[in-house]
Amino acid sequence: QLTLRPLYRADQVRELDRRTIAAGIEGFALMQRAATAAWQSLRASWPGVKRISVLCGGGNNGGDGHVLAALAAVAGVEVQRIALKPPKTLDGDAARAAEMATAAGVGLEPWRKGIAFSGEVIVDALLGTGLTGEVRGEFREAIEAINASGLPVLAIDIPSGLAADTGAELGVAVRATRTVTFIGDKVGLHTGRAPARTGEVHFRALGVEARRHADLVPAAELLDKALLEVWLPPRSRDAHKGAMGHVLVLGGAPGFGGAALLASEAAARLGAGKISLATAPEHVTACLTYRPEVMVHGLRGAAELGELTEKADVLAVGPGLGQGAWGQGMLQAALAASTPLVVDADGLNLLASHFPGQRRDDWILTPHPGEAARLLGCSAAEVEADRPAAARELQRRYGGVVVLKGAGSLVAGPDGMAVCPYGNPGMASGGMGDVLTGILGALLAQGLAGPVAARLGVMVHAMAADMAVRDAGERGLLAADLASYARIVVNPGFV
Ligand code: APR
Repeated sequence: QLTLRPLYRADQVRELDRRTIAAGIEGFALMQRAATAAWQSLRASWPGVKRISVLCGGGNNGGDGHVLAALAAVAGVEVQRIALKPPKTLDGDAARAAEMATAAGVGLEPWRKGIAFSGEVIVDALLGTGLTGEVRGEFREAIEAINASGLPVLAIDIPSGLAADTGAELGVAVRATRTVTFIGDKVGLHTGRAPARTGEVHFRALGVEARRHADLVPAAELLDKALLEVWLPPRSRDAHKGAMGHVLVLGGAPGFGGAALLASEAAARLGAGKISLATAPEHVTACLTYRPEVMVHGLRGAAELGELTEKADVLAVGPGLGQGAWGQGMLQAALAASTPLVVDADGLNLLASHFPGQRRDDWILTPHPGEAARLLGCSAAEVEADRPAAARELQRRYGGVVVLKGAGSLVAGPDGMAVCPYGNPGMASGGMGDVLTGILGALLAQGLAGPVAARLGVMVHAMAADMAVRDAGERGLLAADLASYARIVVNPGFV
């Protein structure tokens, strides 16, 4: 049984802190452990470093920075310590930490605009999980100066300015090269702006066993590619196409032929036994030429679907569906069938505009933030401000499993939330979502339950893109490139 890394909210990590201290480990000892872990990480990443600049805020995150400064000085590294708050305004462990660094002979300069960083590496100990609201005052200047410096940055616990619960940037945030996070890993280090801000994330538990506290239910868990082997065992030797599932893709209104074809091809490469495509008649020849394995049906409208929807094991509705009469009819037919669904793109837009109040347990919805906003009746900016909350709310309202796409895709099901750590900016191009729709359809058709299919599909999609990018770079990655890589990803035993 594989256990995934739990991801917590800031208040839960604070509670873990509190319980650890109550159980007899002094707060300052915990701070020393954190600083030691961060210092070791710095040493490992930049082995020959001779000078560092440490920027300390006024809370315990700053305290971690002061202790790290002391450790570095003792190790013979030249330390420039810059304080955003005068030491006499600090209290508790942070005050003790500042004294420790001073006792170790580390100088202290107050922050001023235009200050020159003398370090080869910057340590960001400005704001941690205690950040509330938009970054204020001189902290903003300091964060901008760090980002403008071009120097590598080690962020302590979380890049300053990044919200630990959401991965949103609160006005401005440090762009780190590496982040060392403590006690409990945070949701906000893996979704939204996080992939552009954290650099590599290293988690150090500091001897705290978060899992022991069963009452602190993690906000999410971090998906891991080791799950592929668990969820994709070798096929039975007597497999036949009838047992591998039949996906029907509904999409490609007149003038929108490509998307549904991309979804169909992806479903085929993911091992579905049979793929049918219901599309506008004008696309039939092109589809058959491109992918002869797909059974293409040219339909002038949903009335011509006949038995198609009932013969399939899964319907994938949305790619190139359009929002006109053709698409509305197809979606209506899909909703009327008692077949599990994947709904994407204009299927989602139509759900929001023409089919309100729909709720099912047997569907996967795959909105990007714009579609999520339409489904929730809010703005895309509101979705981006709290992606985990948006995903949870969509799942609560619409049922089934919701995949909120975008950097650090979230999968919210009745059984909780998962975050995908894979994927890359090459995926920011048209058609990528259609490929995901096909992948999900094929996994459902092969008998995986919705929450498993969604978690696995999101990983397969992102890992295929990562593999494609390793071959030929990010720019110019096409959705159609993904299918053949996805095939490699879903054969985990294949080398
Ligand atoms: N702008 C500027 N300053 C802010 C803002 C803001 N928006 N929000 C909070 N602060 C200030 C507070 O006034 C306080 O001085 O940041 C400080 C608190 O920040 P943290 O150091 O993150 O909070 P704290 O709870 O003290 O420490 C948590 O300690 O366990 C370590 O690094 C770990 O992240 C963790 C941190």
